[in-house]
Amino acid sequence: MKTRGVYIETYGCQMNVSDSELMLGLLAREGYALVETPTEADVLLVNTCAVRDHAEQRVLSRMGELKTFKRPGGVLGVVGCMAQRLGPRLLERVPQVDLVVGPDGYRNLPELIARASAGTRAADVEFRGWEHYEDVPAQRVDAVSAYVTVQRGCDYRCTFCIVPMTRGPERSRKLADVVDEVRRLAAGGTTEVTLLGQTVNSYTDGTADFADLLRAVGAVSGIRRVRFTSPYPTDFTDRVFASMAETPAVCEHVHLPVQSGSNAVLKRMLRRYTRERYFEVVEGLRRAVPGLGLTTDIIVGFPGETEADFRETLDLVETVGFDDAYTFKYSPREGTPAVKIRDAVPDDVAGERLERLVAVVRRIARTRNVGLVGTVHEVLVEGFAKRGGLLQTRTRANKVVLVEGPESWIGTYNRVRLTGTTGSTFTGWPVERELAVVG
Ligand code: 5AD
Repeated sequence: MKTRGVYIETYGCQMNVSDSELMLGLLAREGYALVETPTEADVLLVNTCAVRDHAEQRVLSRMGELKTFKRPGGVLGVVGCMAQRLGPRLLERVPQVDLVVGPDGYRNLPELIARASAGTRAADVEFRGWEHYEDVPAQRVDAVSAYVTVQRGCDYRCTFCIVPMTRGPERSRKLADVVDEVRRLAAGGTTEVTLLGQTVNSYTDGTADFADLLRAVGAVSGIRRVRFTSPYPTDFTDRVFASMAETPAVCEHVHLPVQSGSNAVLKRMLRRYTRERYFEVVEGLRRAVPGLGLTTDIIVGFPGETEADFRETLDLVETVGFDDAYTFKYSPREGTPAVKIRDAVPDDVAGERLERLVAVVRRIARTRNVGLVGTVHEVLVEGFAKRGGLLQTRTRANKVVLVEGPESWIGTYNRVRLTGTTGSTFTGWPVERELAVVG
């Protein structure tokens, strides 16, 4: 059989990146090979995000370009969260699209692709609450650092969020299955894993909880770094704090979405904590993990957010002192409870709040980062930086450090002294070389 080329473009979160690796693994079994450009492809897939309207608009305009690469007998497929959300509507809207497959339907991709090549268009948006793709070997892009999905779906009902509607109910993989996968990865040279779940610290396989999971993954021989994303603030328990503190491989970084600093807004978002409770969780984390890097997600302009509410968010950002924050303007998602809340915040007001928030986030990040210049950190060399020929490396606290060095360092660990910062990223100098210069 002639191999067919598959091109896949991935938008959105790390779980989408991980899902794309699953799809490639699945298609590789059927004789497909990954190609780097759409011109070489028989099958074009776009793995999509639905979390904000902007993400969907980007994909729609990209579809306009990708359809021009479709060959006779070729296939253009939309997969992921936007596919799940729109389903057959997407087939109507974009006539060149042949298949639409949601996050629980990837097992059927080979069959749907074969049918699409023969002219039958289809949408598969069924939820399959048992699906973990347990037997599918992911084809990973990066050998040293790997994403490992440990939980799919979401049972929380944050009123702004589309994810429960696109990824279905929450379920966790068995701890033994996760550990098996991590062992195989380690045997293949992977030293860093990032455990993925929508509310990853609510992980439970019926017997083991997230604390057990961290200890078990951290104990796999060859694994030097364990990361996880994204946790839900109130799913941190003392057991998890203890396992983070006592598992050397668990990195000193937590991405802890807060969404808002106003209790009134948190309540309308159906976040299950107050700002005071969030502060307590941060305190618990910092006590357990000295040198912790802390990042967050924040939404501005949620319906009913007043200037006073927004100032509470600014105040929370100042009080916590985040290392970085992803900031978003609220985007109404059809079918989510928040679209029914009155008192929409005008777009110009939301835009102005976003600007003010970004300025505060940047100022605080810069102050924290300037304070780190001169300190020494272990970094993992990830690859070449986008510009300038330097190597891009990362500290355990998730700070990006650019270092001059040979390509052979990629995938290795080094100790570097931070020599400067742009405010968000750093430049560094290997400590060994420092000795060489002095000696
Ligand atoms: N509008 C804006 N931002 C959103 N997020 C999720 N849903 C929405 C929405 N409707 C943000 C949250 C979440 C991140 C992944 O995306 O901050 O943590």
